[in-house]
Amino acid sequence: MTLWTLFFKNSNILSEENSTQKKDILLIKDIKYKNKLVEVYLSTNKNINLSDLEKLCDSVGWLRRPIKKVKTAIQNSFLIVSLIQKIDGKACLIGFARATSDYAFNATIWDVVVHPDFQGQGLGKILVHEIIKELRSYEINTITLFADPEVVVFYNNLGFVSDPNGIKGMFWYPK
Ligand SMILES: CC(C)(COP(=O)(O)OP(=O)(O)OC[C@H]1O[C@@H](n2cnc3c(N)ncnc32)[C@H](O)[C@@H]1OP(=O)(O)O)[C@@H](O)C(=O)NCCC(=O)NCCS
Repeated sequence: MTLWTLFFKNSNILSEENSTQKKDILLIKDIKYKNKLVEVYLSTNKNINLSDLEKLCDSVGWLRRPIKKVKTAIQNSFLIVSLIQKIDGKACLIGFARATSDYAFNATIWDVVVHPDFQGQGLGKILVHEIIKELRSYEINTITLFADPEVVVFYNNLGFVSDPNGIKGMFWYPK
């Protein structure tokens, strides 16, 4: 499968406040789900249910990865952002993204996923914006990711640029 390397430099989309919030934050009160309006919470807690994450990745057809390695990857990630739908007292993981980093200059975003039942309602954009906001709060300037061809435009619209011909990296520097 072809992957595109995309780079993001700086952001004027979001404020750069330092957010160390670890509690779930009510993000949206009334997102549509099966003719109901449900609440969606945002969490940066790394202690997520790995089986729920596996189900979420299954829902978009990703190949399964060894759960132990996924656990290690999460524990060693710089940042995790997850979206949790709460309805009738039950919580369900509906979105996820993570970033690795050298904590100073560079970071890479991985595993951006929104459950198909919730796609097209702005949640993917929120996940990426949230990651960028957090990384920028650490003054990390270079943010990269690997994009499948069908989501290159999605990332382009969020400020990422592709490396030309898949060979050379392109960078955008803060002015
Ligand atoms: C890619 C993905 C995360 C987008 O999530 P989403 O919640 O549907 O996206 P949003 O609703 O936030 O869309 C934000 C914008 O991007 C656009 N968009 C969404 N998916 C797109 C795509 N595949 N290509 C181009 N534009 C796309 C939307 O139309 C919307 O545009 P707007 O701001 O002008 O209204 C989701 O489709 C997904 O999980 N896909 C499967 C997993 C995957 O491929 N992840 C990326 C790994 S590289």
